Amino acid sequence: MKKIAILMGSDSDAEVMKQAWETIREFGVQTEVRVLSAHRTPDETVAFAKAAKDNGFGVIIAAAGGAAHLAGVIAAVTSLPVIGVPIMSKSTSGLDSLLSMVQMPKGIPVATVAIDGSKNAGLLALRILGVHDDDIFNKYEKFRQDQATEVKQKDLKLQEKLKSDQ
Ligand code: RP5
Repeated sequence: MKKIAILMGSDSDAEVMKQAWETIREFGVQTEVRVLSAHRTPDETVAFAKAAKDNGFGVIIAAAGGAAHLAGVIAAVTSLPVIGVPIMSKSTSGLDSLLSMVQMPKGIPVATVAIDGSKNAGLLALRILGVHDDDIFNKYEKFRQDQATEVKQKDLKLQEKLKSDQ
């Protein structure tokens, strides 16, 4: 089974990114979580990305804040799918991070999720691996069904509450 890499520009991104690795591990998929910065440790970042396919990774998630070029730099040196997580920044509430990732020039795609959207990044990575892995695919089907059941229960509960309030 392929692994999923979760990279982040700083340890200050870890609190947000926790949701990604927790989600992925719930599906029984292995992750490697690393602090790798495109500007502070560029050589290590590029080396990791270039070796990722040979090291058994199927998807790379890259989270960064500010002028967030981490995902773009990684996508430039590997043909693996790269998912970008724009981290909420102080100065522009994450808009700088979002635009840096979502506005990648043509030729180097980064699949960008919402600001701080680490859960969806994990889920999208699982969907990508699920294309060629029935175990992951079936677990994802169950995840969707469980989610729908939960929402239906909440709907029922609300209907009952509204009825009793009348
Ligand atoms: C980026 O700068 C990181 O991804 C982080 O979101 C942001 C701030 O980093 P620290 O100053 O907290 O290390 O490189």
